[in-house]
Amino acid sequence: MAKVSLVAAACNSMGIGYKGDLPWRLKNEMKFFNRITTRTQNSEKRNAVIMGRKTWFSIPKAHRPLPNRVNVVLSRSLQERPEGAHHLAHDFEEAIHWLTSPSRCEDVENIMVIGGSDVYKVAMDSPYCHKVYLTRVLQDFDCDTFFPMFDESQYELISDPDVPGEIQEENGIPYKFHVYQKKQQH
Ligand SMILES: NC(=O)c1ccc[n+]([C@@H]2O[C@H](COP(=O)([O-])OP(=O)(O)OC[C@H]3O[C@@H](n4cnc5c(N)ncnc54)[C@H](OP(=O)(O)O)[C@@H]3O)[C@@H](O)[C@H]2O)c1
Repeated sequence: MAKVSLVAAACNSMGIGYKGDLPWRLKNEMKFFNRITTRTQNSEKRNAVIMGRKTWFSIPKAHRPLPNRVNVVLSRSLQERPEGAHHLAHDFEEAIHWLTSPSRCEDVENIMVIGGSDVYKVAMDSPYCHKVYLTRVLQDFDCDTFFPMFDESQYELISDPDVPGEIQEENGIPYKFHVYQKKQQH
């Protein structure tokens, strides 16, 4: 079965967005996001990122598609693949189905869900979700978009040699990278 990771950054209130943008500017956190979503063990393969329509359009045009990743956009309303995206899916299952089809799965190493709210929720509620990379931004921000309820009892915190364990700080804003792995169901 496909294994899917979520990658998100959330502040104290679990807010992730404000007015169609990120509530904060954290350059190194963005570099971390790019590194985690791009790195592969097999240099011949690429990762895929799945995102909602609003997240896609929140990326400045010059930076779309996110480079070196297969960009999949979820939308029920769009009829045509947005310019630059590699695939348009009308629901999450369809996105997974497309990415795991025999011709594609040979090229795709990891599937990463990169937001927003409902896309995180549908991925987290699915049997595919196995890891959550959650940057906890240790401050309060005005937010209108939130990370969904996250049952931490179903996950364990793990360490990843590529992920710094200590508190980071940029522009006076402290934040910490967390990597959660779903516990095995018995
Ligand atoms: N901090 C972070 O880690 C992070 C990450 C990502 C985004 N953000 C922020 O979050 C905000 C955007 O997130 P958002 O939650 O408002 O929107 P979003 O999830 O990016 O986009 C919502 C749209 O995606 C489509 N969609 C969502 N779930 C779907 C599903 N299961 N099947 C088919 N289509 C689906 C729908 O498009 P249609 O209406 O076209 O049907 C829906 O209106 C921005 O502020 C952005 O900066 C933050």
